[in-house]
Amino acid sequence: TDTLRLGIAGLGTVGVGVVKIIQRQADLLTARTGKRIEISAVSARSRDKDRGVNTAKYGWEDDPVALAVRDDIDMFVELMGGSDGPAKAATEAAIAAGKDVVTANKALLALHGQELAVAAEARNVTLRYEAAVAGGIPVIKALTEGLAGNEITRVAGVMNGTCNYILTQMEATGQGYNALFEECGRLGYLEADPNLDVGGIDAGHKLALLAAIAFGTRVDFDAVALQGIQSITLQDIRRAGDMGYKIKLLGVAQMTGRGLEQRMTPCLVPASSPLGQLEGGTNMVVLEGDSVGQIVLRGAGAGEGPTASAVLSDICDIARGIRLPTFGQPAAHLKAAPPASAASP
Ligand code: NAP
Ligand code: HSE
Repeated sequence: TDTLRLGIAGLGTVGVGVVKIIQRQADLLTARTGKRIEISAVSARSRDKDRGVNTAKYGWEDDPVALAVRDDIDMFVELMGGSDGPAKAATEAAIAAGKDVVTANKALLALHGQELAVAAEARNVTLRYEAAVAGGIPVIKALTEGLAGNEITRVAGVMNGTCNYILTQMEATGQGYNALFEECGRLGYLEADPNLDVGGIDAGHKLALLAAIAFGTRVDFDAVALQGIQSITLQDIRRAGDMGYKIKLLGVAQMTGRGLEQRMTPCLVPASSPLGQLEGGTNMVVLEGDSVGQIVLRGAGAGEGPTASAVLSDICDIARGIRLPTFGQPAAHLKAAPPASAASP
């Protein structure tokens, strides 16, 4: 059996989840891909931290860039986070060295995805990121593969587990922000900078990626109209409830006559609707296509197991020889869409 050798940078919530699946499901992964999926080497900030998994048997690099270009890896798995710094440098180095890359890093791709995808195409390697949007929900695959025959008319949904958890728990328990923040940390939902979560920025990164695939345009995070949940009070939530509504951080991307509209803002949704009933770290993504109509995907949007599940989906695809373009079509050909606010009426 052939072997696919991985270098994994980042052994936090997601990285540990990926290591656990590879260790626990080795035979299943081989049966499904025809390859033995092995970890050659790993990198994190601290070598000595007890992570609850045995990584001592793998090679070690302090520097993720050194890991990314090692001769004994075929694929670089970037699970550190951050839109710049080591995540970007190591991803660029991996691509330049001819390694396939799998990442869960929506911030990196929302800000630099276009140039990284072009570089990957030029080097004939694959760059995939199923885990970056809506955690365990295979929404990137749904758009790039399942709906490839559709003109997509709209993408919408709740795409940040932290915000959904905080909003639903504020209502259910009457707890304030700070206690719920801490709970999201324990559940492994939070970004390293949680302002990205509650500021709507993380969900905006995800929406910008889905919009690029759906509408065949360059990722344009700057054009996402953003508002977070920081100013929402228990009183707002109770008032909404009294009127039969819930408050959700809801994203919508659609091509209008004036250009591409992208917004991620707190919205009132009917309490009895599927969106209104979405609780905890759950995400829901609604996709609309001209032939298929409406598809609703719902599932865990964050956390160790669900996110690692999505990372393995990309690793398995590449192991099977499935080499999809990063944004569903060659990135070099993508054009910028006029943002709706800037276009003439
Ligand atoms: P995390 O728990 O904070 O883990 C980050 C890991 O990266 C840690 O192991 C850390 O090392 C390592 N790291 C950070 N900077 C490094 C550097 N300069 N050199 C080497 N290693 C470095 O983060 P996470 O929650 O697993 O998230 C990882 C990525 O997945 C992020 O892009 C995030 O947005 C994305 N993501 C997360 C979730 C989720 O539910 N958590 C879901 C979807 C996507 P130490 O452990 O030694 O500090
Ligand atoms: N911080 C993110 C969230 C992780 O809460 O949804 C999943 O992308």
